[in-house]
Amino acid sequence: MPDTITKLTYQTFQHGKNYFGLAHKYLSSQIMSLVSPQMQRNYRPISPELLLKIQTRLNQLLEADWNDAEKGVYPHSLLFDNPWTDFFRYYPEVWLDMPQIWQRLNQKNYQDFSANVPKDGYPSYYLQNFHHQTNGYLSDLSANLYDLQVELLFGGSADPMRRRILAPLKENLKATGQVRILDVACGTGRTLKLLRNAFPQASLFGTDLSPAYLRKANQELSQIPGELPQLLQANAEELPYLDNYFHAITCVFLFHELPAAARQNVIDQCFRVVQPGGVFVICDSIQMSDSPEMLPVMDSFHETFHEPYYKHYITDDLGQRLEKAGFEDISEQVHFMSKYLIARKPAQ
Ligand SMILES: C[S@@+](CC[C@H](N)C(=O)[O-])C[C@H]1O[C@@H](n2cnc3c(N)ncnc32)[C@H](O)[C@@H]1O
Repeated sequence: MPDTITKLTYQTFQHGKNYFGLAHKYLSSQIMSLVSPQMQRNYRPISPELLLKIQTRLNQLLEADWNDAEKGVYPHSLLFDNPWTDFFRYYPEVWLDMPQIWQRLNQKNYQDFSANVPKDGYPSYYLQNFHHQTNGYLSDLSANLYDLQVELLFGGSADPMRRRILAPLKENLKATGQVRILDVACGTGRTLKLLRNAFPQASLFGTDLSPAYLRKANQELSQIPGELPQLLQANAEELPYLDNYFHAITCVFLFHELPAAARQNVIDQCFRVVQPGGVFVICDSIQMSDSPEMLPVMDSFHETFHEPYYKHYITDDLGQRLEKAGFEDISEQVHFMSKYLIARKPAQ
């Protein structure tokens, strides 16, 4: 480990991002209360007790993240990896986009797409302005802003939450030699980048429905050393791969954006394409069953961030869905605002 990278540097770095995220959220909500008082009424303030609990959970996440780097699950350099150039370049765009967002909010218009955005061939549940994004997942601007917006939402902890998939993957990936790992709904490729750092020799694959996000992922991933991940545009409900092909599959922050039937279809598909003995790791939002104390946050999330399937998601039994598909050895973890399900396809 380079001498300059200490736990204190890491914590200071992360808390700096957290405070920036908090300041951003405070400022945007204050401006919104002026521009759209009606919308502001829907935002419920979080109690000081709950804020303290959230802060404790964040500290525990950062501790776990640091410890995994210390154990060598991933290099320390990954702890400081962020697309900084993009963040600086696109932060003004986040603000410039806001008037459009407020307008859609006031009009309760959540399926608003520009005429020049092709919408054919996508499932209807997908054609939404998730997180109030202009043109949903279907524009280059949306893809350019996404990582920054997620970091602002989670106060810089999106990657630490994503990194929690890496230790269970390493523990459960029994295969040796050329392993194949698929990241379902890879978005702009953040998880694939983490996987590349933790598994330098693996063949990586990524699928997503959004051509714009895949272009962004390709642009980001082509800048890092190692074999370029193979990216394909595909609905996760119909994965375009052979049965039993992958040694491991990951899926980060997808399930809360799917209707119930699609959630089962995606799990069934992951079961089909993972090898017997292979591992499937899900990272997604916390749910009622594991974090009832976070109810005030979960309760308003679907409205605050336009997540139409979230309310059902937080009560859905993902473990039961995994079992129904045929997975076994299912275990769960919770870190900060995310939960993790680790499941194995029975060996033949
Ligand atoms: C919240 S983002 C998560 C992206 C990425 N995994 C991450 O960690 O940032 C959800 C992603 O799922 C994709 N998506 C949503 N429904 C999908 C589906 N049915 N099939 C494939 N991708 C889908 C979206 O295009 C988007 O990139």
